[in-house]
Amino acid sequence: MNQFAAKIARAAGSGLVLLALAGCNGGETDEAQAGTDGPAYVRAHTIQQLMANVVQPTADAYWQSVQFISDETGDHDIRPETDEDWLATRTAAANLTAHGNLLMTPLYAEGRGEDWMDFSRGLVEIGMQAEQAAIDRDPDKVFEVGGNIYNVCRGCHQLYPPAEAPASEAQSGEAGEAAPSGE
Ligand code: HEC
Repeated sequence: MNQFAAKIARAAGSGLVLLALAGCNGGETDEAQAGTDGPAYVRAHTIQQLMANVVQPTADAYWQSVQFISDETGDHDIRPETDEDWLATRTAAANLTAHGNLLMTPLYAEGRGEDWMDFSRGLVEIGMQAEQAAIDRDPDKVFEVGGNIYNVCRGCHQLYPPAEAPASEAQSGEAGEAAPSGE
């Protein structure tokens, strides 16, 4: 056994042989396909499910972490107090960023157009600001950024209202600008 073969044999035991072989055959088909097909995403949620069960509860967690409530018992400043509270606020913000990125994947962006990308990226960026406000433990900033988050949600909903959202790829993101009903 020459030295190279011996190396391969040892590598086989640790799974490295796959990498070595992929490098050897010049990637005639495998590498080219990986480039065009992209990762095998699994569409686990419709856009409605993603919004109702993932995005909305996440935004609620962020919004509810800082509130000014005035009722018959007086004025109440709700704000994160403990390390745990602040971590929850930060986690919600970080998740909004992750959701924005998810919305930009072909899973949800397919057939939507440029505006879709802009609003999704908007969610990513506002989520990062939201996270920074939580890292800084700045309740006023959390409140302020919370309002901007709402504007991103609303902006996208105005451009892609439920009735106009394409059910298939037939329509290519040509959504009207009708105001959402009930608002
Ligand atoms: C990139 C665009 C986009 C952004 C950003 C966005 N949404 Fe949506 N959302 C949609 C679309 C499209 C629908 C409509 C789906 C349908 O019914 O066709 C929707 C629907 C919803 C619904 C209704 C879901 C249902 O039960 O049918 C909720 C709730 C919602 N969004 C919450 C939010 C919140 C909260 C935010 C901001 C944190 C947000 N969305 C940001 C695109 C977006």
